[in-house]
Amino acid sequence: MTARIAVFASGGGTNLQAIIDHFHPRPEPAARVELVVASRPGIGALDRAAASGVARVTMRPAETPPGGLLRVLEEHRIDLIVLAGYLQLVPNDVIAQYHERVVNIHPALLPSFGGLGMYGIRVHQAVLESGARVSGATVHLVDDEYDRGRILSQWPVPVLRQDTPETLAARVLRVEHHLLPLTLEALLGERSPLEAADPVTFALRPADTADADDVAALLPSILAR
Ligand code: GRF
Repeated sequence: MTARIAVFASGGGTNLQAIIDHFHPRPEPAARVELVVASRPGIGALDRAAASGVARVTMRPAETPPGGLLRVLEEHRIDLIVLAGYLQLVPNDVIAQYHERVVNIHPALLPSFGGLGMYGIRVHQAVLESGARVSGATVHLVDDEYDRGRILSQWPVPVLRQDTPETLAARVLRVEHHLLPLTLEALLGERSPLEAADPVTFALRPADTADADDVAALLPSILAR
């Protein structure tokens, strides 16, 4: 059975695109994106949904009546919610109804650099200010607290001496585009990335971490082992 995914987005939607590109070309995919929920109009994620023929809806939280979002999800028979660059709180009724079926991607290694106010470029600023030499991406389940649900997968990304928040964000984002679809696939029962590799050992191999593009390029093959 193909799981029906709703992707919630507030921005460019590159992670949405990565999910579509991973699943949609397959003849019998484990999942398909059936709905994009945008928190504001005019965002790139809506254009990407339109280009792939995915249903889309814009729901500004302040203008959405209680129960409105849950109703839309039920109308589209959504099985799994993926927050991909979504900058709003998910209403409690949705979290309750979709218990253990809401997934978020965070552009750092949780539980560090998460929580209230830690989103977008601020995350990468905080990592650089801390002096950490490794950052990364985390895919986790969402409960009713920011960035606190069970961690499903993580992948490290080196922090380079010359990094700015923007260069670090770009390097982490490339890893997100691999980690998120592969984790969804694992969650849907096809493969377990956590059992397949030891990401920390991998991160500590200087040859792998010297060039960040290598990290992004190597990830799928390592997870597939
Ligand atoms: C990504 O780093 C995601 O982790 C963060 O927002 C960024 C933008 O994502 N939460 P996208 O291009 O809109 O998918």
